[in-house]
Amino acid sequence: MKKIIDLITGELAEAFVSAGYDKEYAKVTLSNRPDLCEYQCNGAMAGAKAYRKAPIMIAEDVVKALSGSQCLEEVNAVKPGFINMKLKKEYVADYLNQMGRDEKLGLETARLPKTVIVDYGGANVAKPLHVGHLRSAIIGEGIKRLAKKMGHRVLGDVHLGDWGYQMGLIITELKERKPELPYFCEDFNGEYPKEAPFTIGELEEIYPTASSRAKEDEEYRREALEATRLLQNGHAGYRAVWKHIMHVSVADLEKNYESLNVHFDLWKGESDAQVYIPEMIERLEREGYAHMDDGALVIDVQEESDTKEIPPCMIRKSDGASLYGTTDLATLIQREQDYDPDQIIYLADKRQDLHFLQVFRAARKTGIVPEKTDLQFLGFGTMNGKDGKPFKTREGGVMRLENLIADIVDEMRKKIAENRTVAAEEAEETARIVGMSAIKYGDLSNQAFKDYVFDVDRFTSFEGNTGPYILYTIVRIKSILSKYQAEGKSLENLEVEPAHDGNEKALMLEVLKYNDVIEAAFEELALHKICAYIYDLANAFNRFYHETKILAEEDVRKQKGYIALLSLTKRVLESCIDILGFEAPERM
Ligand code: ARG
Repeated sequence: MKKIIDLITGELAEAFVSAGYDKEYAKVTLSNRPDLCEYQCNGAMAGAKAYRKAPIMIAEDVVKALSGSQCLEEVNAVKPGFINMKLKKEYVADYLNQMGRDEKLGLETARLPKTVIVDYGGANVAKPLHVGHLRSAIIGEGIKRLAKKMGHRVLGDVHLGDWGYQMGLIITELKERKPELPYFCEDFNGEYPKEAPFTIGELEEIYPTASSRAKEDEEYRREALEATRLLQNGHAGYRAVWKHIMHVSVADLEKNYESLNVHFDLWKGESDAQVYIPEMIERLEREGYAHMDDGALVIDVQEESDTKEIPPCMIRKSDGASLYGTTDLATLIQREQDYDPDQIIYLADKRQDLHFLQVFRAARKTGIVPEKTDLQFLGFGTMNGKDGKPFKTREGGVMRLENLIADIVDEMRKKIAENRTVAAEEAEETARIVGMSAIKYGDLSNQAFKDYVFDVDRFTSFEGNTGPYILYTIVRIKSILSKYQAEGKSLENLEVEPAHDGNEKALMLEVLKYNDVIEAAFEELALHKICAYIYDLANAFNRFYHETKILAEEDVRKQKGYIALLSLTKRVLESCIDILGFEAPERM
């Protein structure tokens, strides 16, 4: 369906032309004075100079030309030259009924679907998931769902950090503790055990122990680096340990992501890119893209228009090791080969922006990525505690994801118990569902780029701009609809009626923005726009609800119209929270 704003713009364009002005001036926006009008056009002011006329005269000409308007009920020229508009009630109702009949609620999906890869999650294997990874998972999942909703073919890739120094550390520590294991016996040539020599719990203890020991013990650190190098060069025993680490951690990661309702299509990682590196480096050297700089192999990425220095992208260190950038370039080779993507969106901490700038430029320059593949970095800010510093546990340690979720769910359980509408058996599951909305909405309602304060009390509140408030609104609608049905009335084939009053119309005007909002959110990769929208929509609904008797309405037709509007509002809200990655319970 055409967006309402485009439909109004179309009518205005015709009116501008028939009054003798250029249609370029017919730009319509939402009113910034909702007390006066619903939509406005400031084109008369913009055209005043070109036509050497007072803006109000142009506005009046256009208003006259709009007298037979299909969609507008009230159009006024207001000094100095505003054109203020209100939509016809019938037109709005008709638009909403079309939305209601459409499975996609009027959203125009891509005519030429793109193949989009979303690189998010980015957990580092064998290190516990911490809140830093929470943002990547939450935002990335939302972007992936949004791209799907827009009709694109989307692949979400977790792109695990599974090839780095942490592996060398774990191998070194394990060797210290259990030197008798066959992985460490250089002339072992039997089959390595199938069982991992550690559990996830042990693994989680091994890594931090090894990591802090390496910081104090130079000899140990060198050993870990050497183990990393050997692993990367194919040492059979270390490879076998690595496989165990992968197996045990990935199972745990899957569980964690699952609990966040985050699902990846691809479980690839840095290690999958390694096979592409030797040939890539060979070509880049041969074709003159890479050159030696102080013992390292680099690709220059500075461009003439840069106002500051952009350091080269390093692809091999002086000791021969490859780097983060090397892996990302090699991953691009693999992605081009396997998926031929039109767009790749990367999620990571915004402090990685230089890294991605270097990688993107190097990839383009060297032809690793063709012109048609759009590369985008969506950098996010830090999740802070109330003290304004990166979120920590009460003891000052790094907060583990699981614990953070558990804290929120605890808080939710208390609130739900106070409400007493949910049976005890159901309370646990409800607390989890609502808790998820608190975490995700708390994050997504901020612009991704900004830092934000993780505030448990505020995020779990049933009032204000929060996930639980949105869910509460949906639950309220569900409850009205089921009471309506319990009276033996059907929800089928109901039609929205032209608004009976201002509150109802205000709600309708919010509902019909749906396709516009979703489209804009995708274009700008801005999930916070969806949050802002559903907050406005929920507010408009609640104002309507408080001023209107719905179930007690005696006029059957009117009541049917209300119920149709409620169903549509619910569908729009549910579609939006589905993009954001959470769902609504039946009661709360
Ligand atoms: N593992 C990285 C980290 O923890 C994030 C990976 C982002 N994706 C990428 N292709 N570099 O910061």
